[in-house]
Amino acid sequence: MSKDLSKYSKQTRMLHQGKAPEEFHGIVNTPATRTSTILYPTLDAYEDPTREYRYGRYGTPVSRHFEQAMAELEGGYDSVVAPSGLAAVTTALFSFLKAGDHLLMVDCIYPPTRDFCQNVLSRYGVEVEYFASDIGDGIKDLIKENTAVIYMEAPGSATFEIQDVPLIAKIAAERGITSMIDSSWASGVLFNPFEHNVDIIIHSASKYIGGHSDIMMGVVIARTKELYKILKDNHKDIGVCAGPDDVFLALRGLRSLPVRMKQNGESALKVVNGIKNHPAIDRIYFPALETDPNYALWKRDFKGTNGLFSILLKPGSRDNVRKCVESLELFPIGSSWGGYESLLQPQYLKNYRTVVPWSEKGMLLRFQVGLEEPEDLIADLKQALDKYEF
Ligand SMILES: Cc1ncc(COP(=O)(O)O)c(C=O)c1O
Repeated sequence: MSKDLSKYSKQTRMLHQGKAPEEFHGIVNTPATRTSTILYPTLDAYEDPTREYRYGRYGTPVSRHFEQAMAELEGGYDSVVAPSGLAAVTTALFSFLKAGDHLLMVDCIYPPTRDFCQNVLSRYGVEVEYFASDIGDGIKDLIKENTAVIYMEAPGSATFEIQDVPLIAKIAAERGITSMIDSSWASGVLFNPFEHNVDIIIHSASKYIGGHSDIMMGVVIARTKELYKILKDNHKDIGVCAGPDDVFLALRGLRSLPVRMKQNGESALKVVNGIKNHPAIDRIYFPALETDPNYALWKRDFKGTNGLFSILLKPGSRDNVRKCVESLELFPIGSSWGGYESLLQPQYLKNYRTVVPWSEKGMLLRFQVGLEEPEDLIADLKQALDKYEF
């Protein structure tokens, strides 16, 4: 199916992996293979366990091409698709946890992942303990006999804390603990967790991979054959799959992923530098800024930035925040990020941080810088911030 393109750069590989025109009359992109039923010519064929395609839920050419392309992008063994990023998170956790296990989860985790731990994993007898993103070597003190998984997200949701992933993954490996990372921020382009021995990578493909704000999808990638077997068996038992149209669009999104992310990152840098000294801003959260506490780790481990940053407004009335936010013309309010367009999402972290409690009084606003002209975005942000009375 996919050719061995390992000697080429990531950008070149992105264009040529995960397709097989020869299997589809030369059609360049693998079509959205829609099916539940797959027919077998004979009884022997039906009973043959080595057949690649057996039933729609277990995989079709388009989902397998996407899974293989993602495994190649991250340098892993293989991957499984899920119908959303959150479903990818839950599939990964269900696959490597059982009742009685202890899970170490980073405090700055994507809030719905925390909800899943709180509302579901706890019902299944998994003990969840949160750790500070900057714990470093201190993670050793939290490891118990029954610690089965250490879960990271770097940079973390909303405020972009970066864990020392190489160090934590090394400690996990020494103790025989499975390490996982939600690497949606880097989307396979800005960071390589498998180079640091992380076991499992999770992506929301609804973000930069899809890239156009029109799909819901996720993917879990396993570093080794052994890890993949555990993941794949559970994926089958849980009944997870993804719709062919979404998979088709995610695979198409991969072709332009590095180019889009480069632009998003360059634009975000310009935008952040254009507004960072505005008096209405208490603090900017953006690891690529030298003044950010995560800058050193970002510089050491990451190849660039994406289009996300957050600002903490100086404390002010709700009415004034509303006026400021609603006067933005190029940053409509909406959940998500990673699309072609700029977006604003207010963040409410009070109930989603326990180790490092969130006690800021000002409103936290997360921005996604899209592919618009950065000067237009700066002008729009400045006119809105100028209106903010604090
Ligand atoms: C870091 C992170 N992980 C996972 C998800 C979940 O992805 P999805 O919305 O595709 O379920 C999101 C969504 O915002 C996210 O930001």
